[in-house]
Order: sequence, then C-alpha cells, then structure tokens
Amino acid sequence: MPATTMDELVSLCKRRGFIFPGSDIYGGLQGTYDYGPLGVELKNNLKAAWWRAMVYERDDVEGLDASILTHRLVLRHSGHEATFTDPMVDCRNCKSRWRADQLKDNKCEKCGSTDLTEPRPFNLMFKTAVGPVAEEGSFAYLRPETAQGIFTNFKNVVDSTARRLPFGIAQIGKAFRNEITPRNFIFRVREFEQMELEFFVQPGTDDQWHSQWVDARLQWWRDQGLLSENLQAYHQAGDELAHYAKACVDILYKFPHGLEELEGIANRTDFDLGSHTRSQADFGLSANVDPNEDSTAKLTIPHPETQKPLVPFVIEPSAGVDRGVLAVLTEAYTKETLENGSERIVLKLKPHLAPIKVAVLPLARNKPEIVEKAKAVKNLLMATGIGRIFYEDTGNIGKGYRRHDEVGTPFCITVDFDTLGRGDDPSLTDTVTVRDRDTMSQVRIPINELAAYIRERLV
Ligand code: GLY
Repeated sequence: MPATTMDELVSLCKRRGFIFPGSDIYGGLQGTYDYGPLGVELKNNLKAAWWRAMVYERDDVEGLDASILTHRLVLRHSGHEATFTDPMVDCRNCKSRWRADQLKDNKCEKCGSTDLTEPRPFNLMFKTAVGPVAEEGSFAYLRPETAQGIFTNFKNVVDSTARRLPFGIAQIGKAFRNEITPRNFIFRVREFEQMELEFFVQPGTDDQWHSQWVDARLQWWRDQGLLSENLQAYHQAGDELAHYAKACVDILYKFPHGLEELEGIANRTDFDLGSHTRSQADFGLSANVDPNEDSTAKLTIPHPETQKPLVPFVIEPSAGVDRGVLAVLTEAYTKETLENGSERIVLKLKPHLAPIKVAVLPLARNKPEIVEKAKAVKNLLMATGIGRIFYEDTGNIGKGYRRHDEVGTPFCITVDFDTLGRGDDPSLTDTVTVRDRDTMSQVRIPINELAAYIRERLV
C-alpha cells in the first residue's frame, strides 16, 4: 500500500534524514526544502537514472550544464517577461494573497471571505542584481526553466559536435519560480530541479516524435517503480497550453494530495529558436520564423534533405526532480502488519534508487575481529562500484534492520561469530547472513560469492 497521506511521508523524511524544511532554525523559508544525508542520495540516483536513459543509452542526445543567472533579453524574447504569470487575488478581509485558479469556491483559504480582488497577473520570475551597482538594467533573472539555456547554446552544441537532425540536448539543474502559494511539501516549491530534454526534429515529423516521447517517458517512470495504475497521460486543452506550446501531454501521478503533474511533454515547435533567432537581428520581435524560409539567422541547422538553414521544431520532455522524488517515495512507502502483530514501515524503492545499497552490520561492536571482518566485507562490496555501502556498528541488529527497512536499503549483511569460524558449525566459516528488505528472508552466503550475489540483484 503506497503512502496515503503527505504527513506520513513528511514525517519519515524528517525522521530518517531525507528532506528538511529550508532555513528551519530561523523559522523556515516558505517554498524551500533541503535534502538530507539520504535525500541527496535518492535524488542523485533518480537524476543518474534519467541521465543514463536520456544521454548514455541513446546516440542522439548530448548533455549540457548552463548558468542559472540568465540575461534579461533571453527571457524577454522567450516570452517569459510578458507571459510567465499566475493569476493573483488579494483577500480584502485578511490581506492574504492567493493563486486565483487554486481557490475552492472563490473563497480565501485563511479566513473564508469571498471579498477578493479581481485576479491580476503576477510574474513568477525571480530577479537579482548582478555586480556591485544595483540599478535598473543591471539585473538578471534566476532561470524559471532550464530549457532556455539549451536554446541559447543550440548553435554552440551543433557547431562543436557536428550534430544533425534529429538530436537532443539534455540538462538537469535548478530552476526558480516565485510561487504565490507553495504547497504540498516538495510538490510546489520556489526553488526546484528540472530534468529537461529538448529534442530537435524536422517540422512535419514533430507529432510522431511527440507521441514517441510520451511513450518513452511513461515507460521510464514505470522503470522507476511507479505503477501504471497510478500514472495517467493527460492531453492539455488549447486554453491550458503554455505560450510556447502547440500541444502538451502531462504525465500525471497519484500523489497523496491528488492526481497531479509529474512531467510535461510539450511540442514547442520553433517558438524558442525562432524567437531568439529573430531577436538577434531585431530586438523587439519574438514571433516565429517560417521554418521553410531560407534564414540567415543564427539558430539554424541544415535541413536533412535540402541542406538549407532550418529552424527545427522541438519536443520537450520536462520532468520535476523533486516531484519525481515525491512520487517514488509515495509509491515505495509501505506499512505492513507482521505475523506477530507488529507493524513495519518499509520503503520498497527500486534498488537503483535506494540511498544505501547494502548495510554491513557487525553482530558485536566490541569484538575487534568481527569489526575488522565487517569492514573488509564493506570494502569488498565498495570495490564493485554499486553505490553506497554502509558500515554500521550500533550493535543492535534488530534496530538496524528496522531502520534500513524504513530507508529502503535492499540488503543487510550480518557478520557474526560463525563468520569467524567460532560457532558450532565450521562449515559457516567465512560466510555472512544476507537479509532481503522486502521478504525479510535471510540466507547464508560465502564471502567470496557475495559481490556476485549482490550485483546480480542490484544492477
Ligand atoms: N520547460 C518547461 C517548464 O519548465 O515547464
């Protein structure tokens, strides 16, 4: 049974060191969260799985890591200065501010009043001063999406890699939105991370690529452990589309607070490359260019058949890292009643996402030979490169198992007196106990077979 309430997840995340509220010791900074010792591992593992699927396993995608600070003109010509807004209303009674499209029955969420102002557009971009003189014109934006860094580097990547259509550029990084009402834990926050691919194609092939990418992305989320029954593809209606999109399919996931967007896969046409291309010739223009027109502008690539300069169309699978973390945590969170009537919480994360792959627990921490052997087992497994192997000598194996169930560690290995050849059965010398997180079953494995046993089940 996945988590049914956000409180269960928030509590586990705080208790076990996955996620903490940002600036907590000073009362918190709304809409920010910090990833703790296990959260950073989980998040890094999710990002690594995305990078592997999008860049390493394909031969038509390059990676990029662009700046967060972005020139004002980039976001003017991308259309964000003019249109990247949410509708905001003020409550005349208690003076609080709300996002109009999130209010139920047009009522203030704080005091219940219906005496609200008319909605007005609120731009979500954060500005910051660049350099020591804070004056109009010296500011930059914190990027509201990683995508623009891909578009502005389009020519750099094409020229340095000799790519031809179709091909993509992938990027993972922070983005910032001054949300009017951040909410639902790490679902809607002001500082977050995106995993975005801009996949450039020949106009006319874009619809087919769009549906291929929707299928590929749904499969990827299933590969991260999300069940099909909790995922849904939603085709946005015309009036829901962002200013740059001709079509967009959202992948929705059944979060504890409801069925909400996990990833959007948009057909952005030539809107962005076209706008930046035109704007370089003539600041102030942000309309599309005709993809069939010969262009002398910069953000083009040779047409696959005619070799004439072409502004390609782009399909954009854009996923939220934090939303991904929340989704895999929701799906993995399991509460079980054991045969003896006790309850256990276990995070049934896919092994490649688990923050700790294997915990090595010496049966007794004050016996140097056992400690030494356990450390040797850790080093042996570390050498396989399968991720974090955790040596933990609290001396209480039962508590160790419970803690590692809660944080999703797939295997716990116990080193005991039998391992040292000091038990009743000499055939157990140089063997260890391996406990499986999901079944709780334990098997005895010779140390020289351990690396292969673990690799087979984790990789
Ligand atoms: N790049 C799409 C988005 O940030 O929503």
